[in-house]
Amino acid sequence: MDCRDQNQIQDYWNDFFRDTDVQDIDYEGIDLMLPPPEEEPYRQYYFMAVCRKWVKNFEQENGRSPKACVVNMGCQMNARDAEKLTGILHVIGYEEHASEEDADFVIYNTCTVRENANNKVYGRLGYLHGYKKKNPHMIIALCGCMMQEEKVVAKIKKSYPFVDLIFGTHNIFKFAELLAQVYEQSSMVVDIWEDTTQIVEQLPNERKYPFKSGVNIMFGCNNFCSYCIVPYVRGRERSRKPEEIISEIKRFVADGVIEVMLLGQNVNSYGKNLDEPVTFAQLLSEIDQIEGLERIRFMTSHPKDLSDELIEVMAKSKKICRHLHLPLQSGSSRLLKIMNRRYTKEHYLELVDKIRTAMPDIALTTDIIVGFPGETEEDFEETMDVVRRVQYDSAFTFIYSKRTGTPAASMEDQVPADVVKRWFDRLLKEVQTIAAKKADALTGQTMDVLVESVNHQDASLVTGRLGNNSVVHLPGDESLIGKIVKVKLEECKGFYYYGRLI
Ligand code: 5AD
Ligand code: SF4
Repeated sequence: MDCRDQNQIQDYWNDFFRDTDVQDIDYEGIDLMLPPPEEEPYRQYYFMAVCRKWVKNFEQENGRSPKACVVNMGCQMNARDAEKLTGILHVIGYEEHASEEDADFVIYNTCTVRENANNKVYGRLGYLHGYKKKNPHMIIALCGCMMQEEKVVAKIKKSYPFVDLIFGTHNIFKFAELLAQVYEQSSMVVDIWEDTTQIVEQLPNERKYPFKSGVNIMFGCNNFCSYCIVPYVRGRERSRKPEEIISEIKRFVADGVIEVMLLGQNVNSYGKNLDEPVTFAQLLSEIDQIEGLERIRFMTSHPKDLSDELIEVMAKSKKICRHLHLPLQSGSSRLLKIMNRRYTKEHYLELVDKIRTAMPDIALTTDIIVGFPGETEEDFEETMDVVRRVQYDSAFTFIYSKRTGTPAASMEDQVPADVVKRWFDRLLKEVQTIAAKKADALTGQTMDVLVESVNHQDASLVTGRLGNNSVVHLPGDESLIGKIVKVKLEECKGFYYYGRLI
């Protein structure tokens, strides 16, 4: 084929797919005799059609659809990625399946923020090997943050050769293409990119809930906190264009979504690297105007970038939930400097004051690390001091985990495990006592609850969430799911409530 033919083919593909929304793609009409398109996402639509053919054959041979089990192991960003994988699998023709044991395709969307996340994956792979021995046709795939670590991929190649597919965070959009390769090839398919500037829009995705959805607004992180592996595995910051985000949310709303969670490692630096820079506050104001959307959440905010403009937009809005997740990590200015957080204890406390002055009813939550290298008794007491002063509605507490390749991994003075354990227990107790007190203060109030599901333990109850993200159980049935209702909080059980409809 000369390059004129090649150009003609690409023109053909561009004409074929142009202006077609992802939900309207005619997969049966894709001509698989032609070489694939070069442009994304068209190329992936082509490979989804290839995989659909494979699935049709499977169905003919087995008299049933193949079953896929997608296991998400990480944060909200990973959960959103898992929805994208599920969406692609659905288009291809897989049936969703909850258990790995008898699935035809299993994918682990991994996390690597702490070492124990990695250990969990190795443990589960051991079990999977047993299942695969019983069902040799089972395809096993691994993706997500952990796969961006060279030593992990080397270990899997060596010790877990029964894995069929490995890909990373930057090329998740290529999933269909890689799966088509797995169908063709008997050896392990491995495709890991070091970084990317690409954001591929318009791929299928399947929301877990019809009425709420995560929305990626940016990918990657440029902060390089010294303990954190995320910038190495998620790459540099890339923001999606505001018009892409807005039109995605409008599509969701037209499809029944009333709550969105805007996702990014550091949403407060959204838009800085766009050709036409936009601030996060500006983006939020635009999203706030989308008719039919009732609740807006976002995470995560880095304290160093949280602007007055953002506080103002939040305070004025009726839709933006009164909740801020504002990771502290440590209350010691000395340690914050070594952690490369670029704020001090004083700055953080001033910020909290400013936020609470503008929105006295706001719920504040946080992340705290205990046992960072060189942490002293005094440093730890500074953290306890901030916890007592801020009075968090809830806090995620983590024991420091050494991540290879991060600056902190080579710092001396790792804190002895028994000391860390003692501090961790003290911190957890304090955090829980404060959280229970804060939660109890809302008892008796009537508040808006978005009902999410029928209660798993008691079918006469439904379960939903307040604007501050707390869980509420109340008598009700399925008809309430997806609705925002007024609920009187009658009893507080520490970190959740029982209520009744008003
Ligand atoms: N050890 C322990 N906790 C960590 N986090 C990030 N890296 C580490 C690490 N190496 C925590 C931080 C972050 C949250 C998502 O995970 O608190 O905010
Ligand atoms: Fe990690 Fe810091 Fe980036 Fe958060 S801001 S992802 S803690 S480097």
